[in-house]
Formats: sequence, structure tokens, C-alpha cells
Amino acid sequence: MEVKKQLEALEKTLIGKLADVSKPEGLNDVKAEFLGKKAVLSRLMGAMKDLPSEERPAFGERINQTKRRFAALIDEKRAELDAARIEAKLLEERIDVTLPGPDLASGTRHVLNQIVEDIEDLFMGMGYVVKEGPEVECDDYNFERLNIPKHHPARDMQDTFFIDKERLLRTHTSPVQVRTMLEYGGEKPVKIICPGKTYRRDDDDPTHSHQFMQVEGLVVDEDTTMADLKGTLETVAKAMFGANRRIRLRPSYFPFTEPSVEVDVSCAACAGDGCPMCKHTGYIEILGAGMVHNNVLSACGYDPKRYQGFAFGIGIERLAMLKYGIADIRDFYTNDLRFNKQFKRPGGAR
Ligand code: PHE
Repeated sequence: MEVKKQLEALEKTLIGKLADVSKPEGLNDVKAEFLGKKAVLSRLMGAMKDLPSEERPAFGERINQTKRRFAALIDEKRAELDAARIEAKLLEERIDVTLPGPDLASGTRHVLNQIVEDIEDLFMGMGYVVKEGPEVECDDYNFERLNIPKHHPARDMQDTFFIDKERLLRTHTSPVQVRTMLEYGGEKPVKIICPGKTYRRDDDDPTHSHQFMQVEGLVVDEDTTMADLKGTLETVAKAMFGANRRIRLRPSYFPFTEPSVEVDVSCAACAGDGCPMCKHTGYIEILGAGMVHNNVLSACGYDPKRYQGFAFGIGIERLAMLKYGIADIRDFYTNDLRFNKQFKRPGGAR
């Protein structure tokens, strides 16, 4: 067969084989078959020596052209296969950004913070401002201006961690009242709640902790009465324990309020009939409160002839223990996830 025809036939065969190759690895075999040392082309090249010398250059050129052409055909096919492979991979790995993401495990807001936030929401809805203050306080704000002078027996009620003579870890959140009244300069009405950590030298046991949380409330205005205090506390009790709860005020003593009261809420377990939970009294004590003492108003720059106020202090742990039937206050601080997770609220961390 004439060489030209032979080469054309060879090219057809190559094209046919390339069409059948579907993987890049397959191309190597085709390449070896058509361009390798033992390939037809190499054999033809070997036969060149039998040709008359004047025909050799043209023959050699034709074979080389064919080699380049074959190599180009194979490269083209390789590029095609590579492109197809990338295309397939892209299709396979395509991300549907409209699909919902995996459900990330979110933490649980600590039950004490949940209660503080509930109280904040409740009071902000009634026009209160949330105020915070430092946990390291001065004696003056924690005691003196709250009508608890040095050597007053009430200081023992609040056995204190002193840092030095003048500085201490606050024993209640009441110093934030003092700070706010001083900040307001004795003129503006005050309507605040002050949540935060407090400290007392108690030995830790199921009902005592050397660190605990309070929310203090203070209202000072020109016609503030005990009825306002009672109505406010009733609102808190119902919000925290349910709409059917009643409250009861009992006379008590705090140096910074006069009169002072202890506030009980009707027992949720027996609805006030008496049961072991409320020690058969029908009521459970939840907080202390009273009308702000004139000495406190004066010491904080408010004229007691013009202004009256009420204040209350809620123990957050106690509230949580009553609300959820928790027996040991220490459970709040040990961060056992089995405990913490019980208070997970639907719809996220808050
Ligand atoms: N500060 C008081 C305490 O910690 C609570 C309290 C606040 C009582 C305000 C009356 C009025 O014990």
C-alpha cells in the first residue's frame, strides 16, 4: 500500500480508538500503540533506509508530520477527558446553599441568668432601668449610707469578706441603689433594678453559698407608697410562679427600710392549703422589701420630706430552687451539664 494511504488509514484507526477511550489512563495505551518504539510509525521510519536517498527527506518529513498530528490528536483527547472529569467533579461536589445547615449543638443559658433575664424583661416592661455596679465595693456604699453604721449588729447578718478596712465584696446589690441615687443627684425619680453577684462568709451547704445572686429593685418618687410596693411584688410573684399565686407581707427588719417586710408567695404545690413543701403554712418566703429609710434617702442626696421610695431584694438562687424544685444550691455552680441542660429553652440559648 502506498505510504500516504497507509498513514491515512492509520489516522482513521487512531481516531476510532480515541473515540472509545473514556479514561485518561486508556490514552497511555493508545499513545504507546501509535507513537511508541514498536508502533507502525516507528517501523515505517525504520524502513526509510531502504528508500533511495532523494526520497528520504520528504518521507521523513511526512512521518514526522504524522507523528505530530497523532500527538496533537491524543493531547486533544486528553484535554477533553480532563475537562469532563473536572465537570463531573464539580457536579458531584456542588453545594446547595439553600439547604438548611447542620444542627449545631448550642449551649444552654444558665438557669440563673435565665431568671435574671426574665426579671429584667418584666421590669423593663414597667419602665425600669437596669443598673449594675462593682462586686468589690466600699464600706460606705455597702453599709454606711444604707443606715448600717460601724458596730451595728446588722453587719453580722451579712458576714462580710473584707479586702481591707474600706473595701469588701458586696454582701448585697443594695450599694447599686446608693450609687444610682448619688448619680441622679437627689432630683430625678429613680426606677431601677440591679442584678448581680453577691458574697457572704457562709459555709456552703444545700441552702447556703458564699457567692450567690440578687436582683435589687428601687423606686424613689414623690408619691411612692407601700401599695405600689405590694402591687409590684404581686406582679413579680405571678410572673415567676403563675397567675394564681398570692403574696403575703409579714413585718420584718432591715436597717435600710422602714417599715420592712418579708414577702411570701402562696405555695405552688398545695395552692395555700398547707403541705410539706411549705411546711404546712401555705406560704413560702421569697424576698425582703420595705419603704426606703429616711436616713438612706438623706445619705444618698434625696430629701425625705419630698421623696419616698420602696426597695426589694430577691435572691435568684432561692427563686430558681422554688420554681424548679431544686434541693441543693450547689447544683447551680458545679456546672454538671446534665443539670444545666434541663433548663434548655426551645428556640435557642435565651
Ligand atoms: N439587701 C437585702 C439583703 O440582701 C435585701 C433587701 C433589699 C431588703 C431591699 C429590703 C429591701 O438581705
